[in-house]
Amino acid sequence: MRVSYGNAALLLLLESVSAAAQATNRTGVTCPSSSKFEPISASTFFANLNPGWNLGNTLDAVETEGSWNNPPVSAHTFDDAKAAGFQGVRLPVTWAYHFTSEAPDWTVDPAWLQRVADVVDMVTARDLYAIVNVHHDSWIWADLTLAATNVTAVEERLARLWYQIGVKLACKSEKVAFETINEIPGTTEEHGAIVNRLNHVFLQAINEAGGHNSQRVVTLVGAGEDGQKTIQWFKEPDSKFKNPWAIQYHYYSPYDFVFQAWGKTTWGTAADKTALESDIAAVRTKFPNTPLVIGEWAVSPVATETAARWRYFDHFVRTASKYNTATVLWDNGADFLNRATHQWRDEVALDIYRQAAMGVMNALPAGGEEGEEGSSSAYIYHKRNNETGVVGNVTLPFQFHGNQLAGISKAGTELRPGPANDYTVTNNSENDEITFSASFLRTILTPDSPTGSLTNLTLHFSHGAPLTVNILQYATPTLSTTSGALPPAGQDLRIPIEWAGQNRPAAVKAVRSDGAFLVDEWTQYLGPLQQGRMTYGGQWDWDADHVIIKAAALEAVRAAGVDTTFTVEFYPREMGNWVEFRVVV
Ligand SMILES: *[C@@H]1O[C@H](CO)[C@@H](O)[C@H](O)[C@H]1NC(C)=O
Ligand SMILES: *[C@@H]1O[C@H](CO)[C@@H](O)[C@H](O)[C@H]1NC(C)=O
Ligand SMILES: *[C@@H]1O[C@H](CO)[C@@H](O)[C@H](O)[C@H]1NC(C)=O
Ligand SMILES: *[C@@H]1O[C@H](CO)[C@@H](O)[C@H](O)[C@H]1NC(C)=O
Ligand SMILES: *[C@@H]1O[C@H](CO)[C@@H](O)[C@H](O)[C@H]1NC(C)=O
Ligand SMILES: *[C@@H]1O[C@H](CO)[C@@H](O)[C@H](O)[C@H]1NC(C)=O
Repeated sequence: MRVSYGNAALLLLLESVSAAAQATNRTGVTCPSSSKFEPISASTFFANLNPGWNLGNTLDAVETEGSWNNPPVSAHTFDDAKAAGFQGVRLPVTWAYHFTSEAPDWTVDPAWLQRVADVVDMVTARDLYAIVNVHHDSWIWADLTLAATNVTAVEERLARLWYQIGVKLACKSEKVAFETINEIPGTTEEHGAIVNRLNHVFLQAINEAGGHNSQRVVTLVGAGEDGQKTIQWFKEPDSKFKNPWAIQYHYYSPYDFVFQAWGKTTWGTAADKTALESDIAAVRTKFPNTPLVIGEWAVSPVATETAARWRYFDHFVRTASKYNTATVLWDNGADFLNRATHQWRDEVALDIYRQAAMGVMNALPAGGEEGEEGSSSAYIYHKRNNETGVVGNVTLPFQFHGNQLAGISKAGTELRPGPANDYTVTNNSENDEITFSASFLRTILTPDSPTGSLTNLTLHFSHGAPLTVNILQYATPTLSTTSGALPPAGQDLRIPIEWAGQNRPAAVKAVRSDGAFLVDEWTQYLGPLQQGRMTYGGQWDWDADHVIIKAAALEAVRAAGVDTTFTVEFYPREMGNWVEFRVVV
């Protein structure tokens, strides 16, 4: 279907762009001959950048760098990213609070432009590729879904902004790419058409800024940087622009697993894998010859179940590779790299990512894909004070994917294979299993062992990432109180908790005293581990000493006007491994 934006709109657009450009001059930057730029195709650029890492919640923080959870970035963070195997860095940048004048000039603070240029240099000095963008500006001043948004003003402002970024970064090497705008809110075909024009405005502005920009790689976007909307509404840019271009989109799906909603703590059924593949294949099918990059994706170790996350990492990266799509991991500073300690919070996931990106098969934990209680082959869970007091053999399922188990080590010491020793391996076409012997487990799980992680075993395979098995003793955590009054509007309820295993909830269920689910009544159609469960972050959270019921969930209690029982469930998800807290209205 054709969109109703004809030539009149385009003329208007071109006029506004040139008006903005005239505010400076039309010649643009001339780069010194010492500035190196080797033209590169977009497909080579994104093959070289893959896999990439996002410097999230940093230059994009609102209002400025340091405003959110990360201090200003220092160069060693890019050493950490490079050492972990990343080959490129997406630098999200929010400009909204760095303008020193309003329309028509929209002058950007030179100090901020310099800061961004300096961070770009930190990235390229390490021989990493970089993507620079316009980030949260999208919802701050370019939200197309708001009636109050003046599209002409957005176009002018974006043109002025990109002209100035283009001038500042004009002579950067071919390793620096630009991205029009991050996840610009847009829900209709009309919005989709505006986003196409914004891609045009952006290209026009950087080309007028001069330097190497006419040959610079760019990533163009569709509404929301959403794959489906891009398929529906994206149009190729005007052929007068010679920039090599790719399409960037973002992928956070399925929502329930990625965002820990509705008790979805497992991932990896055949249906899960098919859904993921069909999403990624659909974008490739629509754009068979266009370089594609998934500029954001993530499954955070903070909230997701470990074995499910490893399966997702493997399958997502392998599927993106299959459809020749580069991937850039989103990292908000709390998810993957601990920038202060230089440590990655999930080394196994990173290893799986690297190996899958190279096409190497990984052995993976199996079991629990269907959401069975208790299962995760990333752990041996042992319940403290098991009634019998006896530690038995424990069998964990795996998918070796053609690899051989080369050995298992514990703190550098090799375990002894064999039925009379530490472990045995079952290996046939139907299932791969490792059985850890009771005699071995009793050396770790003694009557005096505390709760929590006791040791990690490392499983080495002939190919692919090593896996770990965390031997963890647990008991059901205890709450300091089991009921309380509804707090005043806007306040969270922070319930003191004594953890005893994995120090986080797996899910939180909320049931009103009249029997209805507090939120999302439709979850009654989900399986027993998902019914009535709420969403992590928005409705529940935790810290070192508390389970937190968020104000949003408490508002639902206030609206319902009935007492509500919150059941906080823990790992492993098995009968009785939960505590209840009743909120009294
Ligand atoms: C035009 O703008 C560029 C970038 O701001 C500047 O480097 C150049 O000196 C300007 N040229 C003229 C003639 O003003
Ligand atoms: C929208 O912005 C343009 C450009 O800044 C301006 O000329 C126009 O008056 C604005 N329209 C409204 C309705 O404010
Ligand atoms: C706990 O006790 C049960 C018997 O009640 C036994 O089957 C199971 O293996 C024990 N669990 C562990 C991890 O030893
Ligand atoms: C699986 O079986 C094959 C052939 O029987 C053998 O070569 C291989 O070592 C076994 N793998 C593991 C992990 O034991
Ligand atoms: C544990 O495994 C060993 C070795 O295969 C076997 O001899 C023993 O019977 C098993 N014990 C139990 C309780 O299953
Ligand atoms: C095992 O690994 C996990 C994840 O890295 C870690 O949190 C835990 O502390 C480790 N356990 C031990 C005993 O070091």
